[in-house]
Amino acid sequence: MSEHDPLALAPRIHVWDGPLRIFHWLLVIAIAVAFLSAEEDSLLSQWHMMAGWFAAILIAFRIVWGFIGGEHARFSEIFKVGGAGHHIGEMLRLKPTAALGHNPVGWISALLLIAVTAVVVWTGALLVTSGGGSAEELHEVIGWSLLALVAVHIVAVIFMSALTRENLVRAMVSGSKPAQRHAGASDARKPSLFAYLIGMVVVAAAIFGILKIDPQAFVPRSAESAEYGENQLGAQHPYEDEDDDIEHGE
Ligand code: HEM
Ligand code: HEM
Repeated sequence: MSEHDPLALAPRIHVWDGPLRIFHWLLVIAIAVAFLSAEEDSLLSQWHMMAGWFAAILIAFRIVWGFIGGEHARFSEIFKVGGAGHHIGEMLRLKPTAALGHNPVGWISALLLIAVTAVVVWTGALLVTSGGGSAEELHEVIGWSLLALVAVHIVAVIFMSALTRENLVRAMVSGSKPAQRHAGASDARKPSLFAYLIGMVVVAAAIFGILKIDPQAFVPRSAESAEYGENQLGAQHPYEDEDDDIEHGE
């Protein structure tokens, strides 16, 4: 909120609906915790699976929101924003046009982030239900690929904000963009009351489904114990008991 920013108090156009913004920032937290807790020796290791399952709820919500959410959250927008080729050409000339919702490349990256997160969660779930095996390597590789994708995403957001001189992060927080840069554009169609209702049902259904797969999904526990596939049955890992004094080698 700089005093020198002539657009700070200028009229703004509503772009991102509230649930989409909440989805985004909760996903950032969930994935950050999932990464910080991924290594067995992390101080947060007990929270890894919980963060992963939380991301699963968010992804389930986002997929459905893509059909019923606010205007720019809808997947059908992909067909309205034009081809990626034209946009990439503009980017190579360092003169991209500021888009109201996602630009074509923004949509590709949004879909990739959603899909790769879904696959990481799926392989994580496989790992826990099958007790390790090939899912472990797959989960790690796709997990680290997601981190790379997130890094590209953050660089792209900063780069695009600089090139279009539009604060995209502020838009993802406040939901709006300066009207002055989008002549002739109007506020995005908001989600209906029915959409909010369905959104809540999806979240509840996702929690229910997750608890069916992994009854201890929302209980802090080590990944090591869950890998043995015992926690979901309520049993403890043979080496894990309350006595924390015992040090296990490796
Ligand atoms: C774990 C980290 C992150 C993940 C998984 C992630 C994921 C996503 C996804 C899926 C979207 C598309 C939104 C949708 O339509 O659903 C998006 C958009 C966006 N993200 Fe992130 N994000 C992450 C971190 C960040 C960070 C740290 C920032 C801030 C620098 C950021 C800023 C944005 C912005 C500004 C958009 C809108 C881009 C546009 O205008 O097209 N994201 N992100
Ligand atoms: C956004 C979601 C997730 C991300 C980004 C993620 C990421 C990772 C990464 C990078 C590792 C490898 C750590 C290493 O190098 O040792 C890992 C390990 C692991 N993850 Fe996830 N994960 C996610 C979700 C889940 C879920 C939903 C589950 C289970 C329900 C899960 C279960 C595990 C387990 C058991 C390990 C330990 C594997 C081992 O012993 O090496 N993860 N995760």
